[in-house]
Amino acid sequence: MTDLTRMEAELSARVAAAADLAALEAIRVEALGKTGSISELLKTLGKLTPEERREQGPKINGLRDAVQAAIAARKDALETAALDAKLAAERVDLSLPPPPERRGRVHPTMQVLDEMIAVFADMGFSLAEGPDIEDDFHNFTALNFPPKHPAREMHDTFWLPEDERGERKVLRTHTSPVQIRTMQRLNEKLPSWIANGQEPPIRVIVPGRTYRSDSDATHTPMFHQLEGLVIDRDIHMGHLKWTLDQFIARYFETPMVESRFRPHHFPFTEPSAEMDVKCDRSGGDVKIGQGNDWMEIVGCGMVHPNVLRNCGLDPDQWQGFAFGFGVDRLGMLKYGMPDLRDMFAGDTRWLDHYGFSAFQAPNPATGLS
Ligand code: DAH
Repeated sequence: MTDLTRMEAELSARVAAAADLAALEAIRVEALGKTGSISELLKTLGKLTPEERREQGPKINGLRDAVQAAIAARKDALETAALDAKLAAERVDLSLPPPPERRGRVHPTMQVLDEMIAVFADMGFSLAEGPDIEDDFHNFTALNFPPKHPAREMHDTFWLPEDERGERKVLRTHTSPVQIRTMQRLNEKLPSWIANGQEPPIRVIVPGRTYRSDSDATHTPMFHQLEGLVIDRDIHMGHLKWTLDQFIARYFETPMVESRFRPHHFPFTEPSAEMDVKCDRSGGDVKIGQGNDWMEIVGCGMVHPNVLRNCGLDPDQWQGFAFGFGVDRLGMLKYGMPDLRDMFAGDTRWLDHYGFSAFQAPNPATGLS
């Protein structure tokens, strides 16, 4: 056997025995790499005489081709085997149950807003909206907070930087500015309505985000309110009380909830009140409709004549009542969530626990699903 045929036999045997692609590559480098054994042989051709080269050339090139072909064949075989092994190992078992699917949940605040809206919609209220970024006029002045009046300090206001007109806008501290926007719209449309013989009362609710610089277990910098406003002729406190009592009974799904009105002060209502509901706090969490404690749930009152005038309405012709609920607090009360800050922390475990299914059966009290 010549040296070349021995080399070929040896290399072919090693290639055939290469256990994986890495081992095969090592053999390729050893034989065909820059300083590999076959490459070194090819380099010797240049130094041979033409006759020798004519004899040796084809043999050495033949050796190179044979080894290259063997490596390519082995590579193919190894890759096919690897793929077969992978296919066998990764076979999908269609009889297995599917992995659990992550379900989205409805945030309690949105659920509570839907429930509140459904109850008020049944009483003939429609929805109104206003901007989150308000001007001083709508958020304070028109609501009878005089400029520089200490009542403005009741709200820990987020002020925006001065704009080009030197005006500082605010993140609205309550939904009450939408009262002003709604009454201004009424005032605009009134002449044509009266001309057409229609004088619809205003009955609106305003759900929305509100902002104050405050954070503890019952306060977050962003929270939700639901404002209510009724404007009509001959409206009085009795209408207000009935409306809120109806709401409480339906929202808390108990037929009779005892309520009381406590005098209070808001610049934009006169008289002003807070309404409390009877509840039981003895067991740690609050149970509405039983017990002997009182819980404040809503601020309210008769719309102040100054506020009506600020919107161009004549207080001798028009009266109204207004109320403002803290939506998130109402949710904490009904669904037993202890800390308001958790509601906006964005923790999906919290949402899995306190959230609502988007596909639940209709609630018999609200008709909402
Ligand atoms: N805007 C009040 C607040 O954020 C809540 C409020 C009280 C709204 C009385 C009203 C009302 O409409 O009549 O503290």
